[in-house]
Amino acid sequence: MEEIPFTRPLIGEEEEAEVVATLRSGLIGTGVKTEHLEREFAAYQGTRHGIGTNSCTAALHLSLHALGIGPGDEVITTAMTFVSTASSIVYTGAKPVFADVEPDTLCIDPARIEAAVTERTRAIIPVHIYGQPCDMDGILDIAQRHNLKVVSDCAHAIEAEYRGKKVGSLGDTACYSFYATKNMTAGNGGMLVTDDDNLTQLIQSQRDHGMASGAWTRYQTGEFQEYPMIQLGFKYILWDLPASIGLHQLRKIEQRHQKRLEVANRYGAALKSLSDHVEVLKTREGVRHAHHLYVIKLKGVDRNQVAAGMEKRGIGVGIHYRPVHLEPYHREEHGHAPGECPVAEDAGGRVLSLPFWPEISEEEVLRVVETLGEVITECRES
Ligand SMILES: Cc1ncc(COP(=O)(O)O)c(C=O)c1O
Repeated sequence: MEEIPFTRPLIGEEEEAEVVATLRSGLIGTGVKTEHLEREFAAYQGTRHGIGTNSCTAALHLSLHALGIGPGDEVITTAMTFVSTASSIVYTGAKPVFADVEPDTLCIDPARIEAAVTERTRAIIPVHIYGQPCDMDGILDIAQRHNLKVVSDCAHAIEAEYRGKKVGSLGDTACYSFYATKNMTAGNGGMLVTDDDNLTQLIQSQRDHGMASGAWTRYQTGEFQEYPMIQLGFKYILWDLPASIGLHQLRKIEQRHQKRLEVANRYGAALKSLSDHVEVLKTREGVRHAHHLYVIKLKGVDRNQVAAGMEKRGIGVGIHYRPVHLEPYHREEHGHAPGECPVAEDAGGRVLSLPFWPEISEEEVLRVVETLGEVITECRES
C-alpha cells in the first residue's frame, strides 16, 4: 500500500447525491443531466456548443471524422502525449505525423510543425500537455497559412487559458477527458466543444449511431418512434450517471485549481534544493497552466531506478510519457524509429511525475521531495 499515492479522485457528497437522484429518476440513459453538463461546460470554456462523449478519445476521433479527415490525409501531432491522441488519427485512416517538442515545456514545437507540413496535411492536434497551453499564436498562424484544421487535445487542460481565453476555445474543436485521474472526473467520459453550428449538428448525430435525433430529443418531443439513420455513426455518447458526477466536479474546478497552483508552487520551491539532478518545466508567459500533472526531468541519474526507489518507499510516481512514435505498434505497423523526435525521446527517458492532487498536504509534498533526494543519492552511489 502506497503511503503517498500518485493521485486521488475527490468525490464529494454532492456527486453522490446527484448520482442517487439520477438512479431514482428512472431516466439513466442520455438525458437532462448530460444536457446540463454540456451547457455548463461550454459556458465555462466560452464556446457556443458542448457535446458530451464517452471519452476524450471518442471526441478526438469524432472531430477528425466530422472535419472530413480520412485515408490519404496527414495529421500532425506531438510525440509526447498519451497514445490515444495518435490512435484517433489512425481510426480515420489518416497518417499521424509526429512533431518534436520544446525542451523546456514539452509542448509541441511550432517550428517542428511547420517543418512537417506537406501537401497532404489537413490538421494539427496540439496537446496542452500536463495542463500547459501550447504556443497557440505559432500554431494558429501555421494553420491559417496552410489552411489546416486545429483540434485541441485538452485532456489535461480544462482550466487552461492562453492570453486570457480558455485554450480550447481557440481552434476548430477541443476535446476533454473525464477519466478517473483527470482534474474533473466522471470515472470516464469526455466533451467536445466548438463554435461551429454545422459541425455540432454533424457530430451530435455521428456520436449517436448516425441517427437524425438523439433519444432525449425524441423523448422530449414525443417522437420516440422516429429515428432514421442518416449516416454512419458511432456509439460515443455521454450518459447521465457520469454526467451527474461531472456537473459537481465542474462546479468545484476553480476552487481546486487554486489549490493545484499552490501545490505546484510548493513543489517548485522545494525542488530547488535538488537542482543538480532535477529540472523543473517552464511555464510560458501569458498562460494559465491547468496543473494536471507535476512532471520533472531527471539528469545524471537513471529515471527507472529512481521511480522504482520511490515506489519502494511507498510514494506513487508516474511516467508521462514515453514518446508515442516509439511504441511497439507505431514502430512495427508504421515504421517509426528512434531519431525522429530527439527532444521527446530524450525527455521520455527522463520524465517523472510526482504525487499531485489539490488536497495533498504541505508535509506530504516536503516528504516526497526529501525522499526523492534520498533516492537520487542512493541511485548515484549504486
Ligand atoms: C493527453 C491525453 N489525451 C487523450 C486522452 C484520452 O482520454 P480518455 O481516456 O478520456 O479517452 C488522455 C487520457 O489519459 C490524455 O492524457
